[in-house]
Amino acid sequence: MRVVILPESEAVAAFASQQIVDQVHRKPSSVLGLATGSSPLATYDALSRTCRQGAVSFSDVSTFNLDEYLGLGPDHPQSYRYFMNHRVFSGLDIDLAETHVPDGLCDEPFRACEAYENSIAEAGGIDLQLLGIGRNGHIGFNEPSSSLGSRTRVKTLSRDTVAANRRFFDEGEFQPTLALTMGIGTILDARKIVLLATGEAKSAAVKAMVEGPLTARCPASALQWHPDTTVIVDEPAARLLEDVQYYLRSEEGMQQLLFDDDG
Ligand code: GLP
Repeated sequence: MRVVILPESEAVAAFASQQIVDQVHRKPSSVLGLATGSSPLATYDALSRTCRQGAVSFSDVSTFNLDEYLGLGPDHPQSYRYFMNHRVFSGLDIDLAETHVPDGLCDEPFRACEAYENSIAEAGGIDLQLLGIGRNGHIGFNEPSSSLGSRTRVKTLSRDTVAANRRFFDEGEFQPTLALTMGIGTILDARKIVLLATGEAKSAAVKAMVEGPLTARCPASALQWHPDTTVIVDEPAARLLEDVQYYLRSEEGMQQLLFDDDG
């Protein structure tokens, strides 16, 4: 696991967006796995600026989102499809037909999950998966106790998650407690993973993910098993890490190697 600790959240967004731009430059027809939530917002804004400047194009890219609320359609402002269309894709030169989000209004959720897995496989698998992390260590909507080998399926949201996401819903508005989510096994199949975490509220989850045991109690700890995961955090999110000096030295070494490679 590569752990990159940066002074503040703006630097996290710049670093993460550069990872995605590099991926698309290496392979213009990349399949990207995308996340919602507040964590990747600044990264998406940076991508949109880079795209507007003409320094990257998403015209051949296809995307698969991690998850969607069961019961919310694409026109619902709190649905992840709505978020992606209005907040992310509208700023990129991407073909909307090549963007995929699980269907929150599907009639047969179990079949829809299987079909989602099949579409990822048909697209050739995910080249780069972007992730945030929940305060309870979830990735996508894989709540604590999720099988580390799980595939796309219906999950019941934990009380913590429902409470954390309540801020997006109006008082009295229906807030789903079920979601369709890629499984941890689906996420681990991605060739490269980039996870972002900012702010002190994420520090316990970051500690458990990076330095805790590999356990279904912290679904993100499964990333310790993945051969190419980069965790990008700001200093507040890194606050509880014990081996900060080691991560900083490793990153210096990594930057030196990358610089030597370029030069
Ligand atoms: C949500 C999403 C996750 C996201 C996480 C953190 O419930 N399902 O994909 O990473 O919670 O959200 P935020 O970035 O808003 O803190």
